[in-house]
Amino acid sequence: MKLKRFLLSLIIPASLISSLFAQTGTSQQYEYKPVDKRFIHLPVKTGAPRVWMSLSVDGVSQYDFQIEIAPSAPDFYVTIEAGRWMGKGLVLTAENVPETSQWRQHVKHSDVMSDEETVYTEKYRPQFHFSPRRGWTNDPNGLVFYKGIYHLFFQHNPFGIMWGNMTWGHAISDDLVHWKELPDAVLPDHHGVVYSGSALVDWNNTSGLQKNPVVNKKGKITNPPLVALYTSYGPELRIKGKEATQSIAYSLDEGVTWLKYPGNPVVPHMVAQNRDPKVFWYHDDRSSGNMGHWVMVLYLKEQDYAVLVSNDLIHWEKTCDILGAGCTECPDMFRLPVDGNRKNQRWVFWGADGAYLTGDFDGRVFTKQEGPYFTNREGENDYAAQTYSDIPEKDGRRIQISWLRSDRFPGTPFNQQMSVPRDLTLRTTPEGIRLFIGPVREIEKLRASSPVKFSGTLSGEPHPLESGKMKGEQLDLTVVFKLNDQRIQNGPEEMGLEIRGIKITYDAASQTLDVAGVKAPLKPLNHKIELRLLFDALSVEAFANDGIVAVSKYFVPDLTGTPVVFGTKGLAGYKITGYPLNSAWTKGK
Ligand code: FRU
Repeated sequence: MKLKRFLLSLIIPASLISSLFAQTGTSQQYEYKPVDKRFIHLPVKTGAPRVWMSLSVDGVSQYDFQIEIAPSAPDFYVTIEAGRWMGKGLVLTAENVPETSQWRQHVKHSDVMSDEETVYTEKYRPQFHFSPRRGWTNDPNGLVFYKGIYHLFFQHNPFGIMWGNMTWGHAISDDLVHWKELPDAVLPDHHGVVYSGSALVDWNNTSGLQKNPVVNKKGKITNPPLVALYTSYGPELRIKGKEATQSIAYSLDEGVTWLKYPGNPVVPHMVAQNRDPKVFWYHDDRSSGNMGHWVMVLYLKEQDYAVLVSNDLIHWEKTCDILGAGCTECPDMFRLPVDGNRKNQRWVFWGADGAYLTGDFDGRVFTKQEGPYFTNREGENDYAAQTYSDIPEKDGRRIQISWLRSDRFPGTPFNQQMSVPRDLTLRTTPEGIRLFIGPVREIEKLRASSPVKFSGTLSGEPHPLESGKMKGEQLDLTVVFKLNDQRIQNGPEEMGLEIRGIKITYDAASQTLDVAGVKAPLKPLNHKIELRLLFDALSVEAFANDGIVAVSKYFVPDLTGTPVVFGTKGLAGYKITGYPLNSAWTKGK
């Protein structure tokens, strides 16, 4: 440091040098030697000065992160899984902390994850949408199904409630409804922090990452590696400089622990902030000689993407560009039958903002047929959706989870949530072939009791939906309006519901659905508008007419009023079926 300062003094005025080296605090170390518990818990106070902390194990630096370390009593605790370094010496060094800071007195070790007594009981905890125990989340990552388990990795800031320190968090479920959060799976390293990507089962061990494959009588490998491909983002490291590259982590224990591939990165920097690899196995069932290969769709810059192919997940060759796709970031690509007809399939190319193209793909080159069409609308809280890899053929669904991107949650020690898992289908409409989005049927498992039903004809006055069952924190509603076409005039001709302080309205004159301010065109189907509405602590998801329109909306509800159905006199008849939903966390805990 002294030498650096001296050299700088030759070229820069002394006053400027002092400010460069200004220290408002000291460097403080916390030692945990030997590690004898699974978790180490760090105290956080939101709003406290954010400091750099570095973690080293037996003198070897692992990674650095930023944290609002609590100088006194914390708001909440965040967790590092120390068990992976059991018996070793762990040192945390915080830079620039005020000398009086007492953070070290508040550090705890235990064998259970953070804030075990209170987690999932917090006010505003979404009860059937995944949110992290503690910290921030954004994109869903690495969605892969293996041996009956749905893995959900997610962009996680393990150390604070705002974006940063990107790491892959991890949760698992056997039913897409009850999630159990596990320790973080993929941690930052010298290549960068861990941005978005995907995961898959390498059934034939094409990567060779399983060094001891076990082969059964049918010649099938019974312990294939699970492989994650993600972006290593160097510029977010404390020592900046490296560009965005694509790396591999793999698991040999069915997805529980993840190892870094020593030859990372597997795709060097191509351009700008190239990122978010989505990888899948391509097999053309029309040509018998084709054994198949891996395909990566990768975001390049602006609205440009690339397609790369590989035989082993490690060596990649670019085969085409998808330029000006009409969307940005987090690509996905998959084949879907049109109207359920497996003989008539189309490829869908999808971007983070919910725009999609339909087209053809020969394993190397994507050719656009139609689009972009937009599933997202202004004001909607839906971003960076990804679909599951390796869903068994007998299930056959294309299951997608999205980040329900929103404002900061009100005062919670966690921030942001995922959408409910949903099922994508391609269907023919009078306008052409379009994607339909519906909630997965598994959500119905949470229905608490027999439904409450309301029906009648709109009268011009609000009709209260009076029932204890409508007062629960979580609701699953199906609302059918049967339109009286003769009654529709120039408009507005509105009908809808006011519930939890927001309005969901359909204007039959302009044929527009409005979900708490998010507007979408919607034509009646057989003279009907059918809405499926899922309400949770901080959101509503609306699926209209079987999913031709899907809207996710964040809002802080007002639970004081009585829900009502309203609309112009005689405009429609209504039928409402409502189920309170149980919390998913009773099992997930
Ligand atoms: C999308 C995104 C990705 C990136 C990640 C970083 O929300 O910007 O492109 O990989 O978030 O957290």
